[in-house]
Amino acid sequence: ADGEHFSNHPPGDFSLEAVRRSFSHALDTAPTVITGVKKRISNISTNEISTRLNEAVNAIQNAAAAWKAASNAPRRAEILRRSAGIMSRRIYELAAVQVLEVGKQWDQAYNDVCEAIDFLNYYAAESEKLFSPRSLSNIAGERNSLSYRPRGIAGVIAPWNFPLAISTGMTSAALVTGNGVLYKPAEESAVTGRLMYEIFMEAGVPAEILHFFPGEGEVVGAALVSHPRINCIAFTGSKEVGLGIIETLSRQQQGSAYVRSSVTEMGGKNGIIIDSDADLDVAVEAVLYSAFGFQGQKCSAASRAIVHESLYNEFLNRLTAAADSLIMGDAVDPGTFLGPAVSPEAERKIADYIAIGREEGREMLVKDNLAIFADIRPEHRLAQEEVFGPVLAVMKTESIRQGIEMANAVDFGLTGGIVSRNRGHIDLVREHLEAGNIYINRSITGALVGRQPFGGFKLSGQGTKAGGSQYLLNFVHPVAVSENM
Ligand code: SER
Repeated sequence: ADGEHFSNHPPGDFSLEAVRRSFSHALDTAPTVITGVKKRISNISTNEISTRLNEAVNAIQNAAAAWKAASNAPRRAEILRRSAGIMSRRIYELAAVQVLEVGKQWDQAYNDVCEAIDFLNYYAAESEKLFSPRSLSNIAGERNSLSYRPRGIAGVIAPWNFPLAISTGMTSAALVTGNGVLYKPAEESAVTGRLMYEIFMEAGVPAEILHFFPGEGEVVGAALVSHPRINCIAFTGSKEVGLGIIETLSRQQQGSAYVRSSVTEMGGKNGIIIDSDADLDVAVEAVLYSAFGFQGQKCSAASRAIVHESLYNEFLNRLTAAADSLIMGDAVDPGTFLGPAVSPEAERKIADYIAIGREEGREMLVKDNLAIFADIRPEHRLAQEEVFGPVLAVMKTESIRQGIEMANAVDFGLTGGIVSRNRGHIDLVREHLEAGNIYINRSITGALVGRQPFGGFKLSGQGTKAGGSQYLLNFVHPVAVSENM
């Protein structure tokens, strides 16, 4: 069955003093770690990109036969498990670096490392299933089998918001299925990306097989996507970049005899429906965490609360009071709920949307970059465009059906949910909400590997779900052999 031999790494228990002390100690030493790692990163520039790419591709090609051999599948799974072991021993260091590098809160940074470890153990187990012989229907005199071959070379283009987890998920899936990988970390989280690369090296991935390609998206990302010998791209990031990747891949490149494929995980404009009989304690907490956790910088974040008119004002008042009491500040302080966005550029974009919200809706709260606007309607920009920040649009509905319709009236289909006690309404959401991940009576972020396979549809992306049993299929070709006996 799904998820056999797999269990999730436990989250950090910050009620324990020992956990807090270890985290605090790791934060003290993280600046030295970061300075050291930065010396080992030099961004690849426009004029060297094509040489470096060709060198890496040739290195992979020369080492590929041994790496991709079917007999090597157990060794690749073992390397993933060894990488998980290293990450788990260095969990505080890997989390503390994220606190400083992208401003992630202590618990969420710790959970990001847990998720990376989960991806490694889960894909190791899944690869063992994928590469074990499977029987097909046979008739007398005929023997059929199905097996999987690596696609060849994967380009992995990663985001900064789950800097270790998502990088590790995409990279390990490509590696464990026998591909070579060119990995490009986000510019904002290149140190964490470099640490992941070094952990894979230490765990035994051959240097010819995995290559670290830091640099600008417009230079390095674009070159990976248009290189004819890179057979598939694993991407997590914005809708604009993702659609550009799909477009480029769809054109046959000279020198490429493959349909170059992709798995793209893009944005969201996720709605959480608050039903007329919702438990407001649950609703307020779910919306607060989903909308403002890590400053709303998650593709899964709630950016719309779609609230039944019967409790609209009460919900708004309670939510606003609760949001107003959130502790804002620097992520190095463990009491902080949310803080600055990842970059000045991101802060500017959020400020622009706050200005738009003031025109379109009724301002309930604006406090630094956190904002809540009421009376937003489906046609408003605040109801349609992904902000990627702690800006929440609150919308009023008259019925569950109208609520679902409103939730679906966007280009995206990533996460969503409902807070309700009405089984019939919950079932309507389960069936009709256009989202790849639906959550009931809880927050709508924080999918766990193996338990909530993650990924959406519409313009939120395509490919099979991360942390799900079909994810490895993005990186292989199935081959059916029929032998006449
Ligand atoms: N997997 C993350 C979540 O569920 C988003 O990438 O929040």
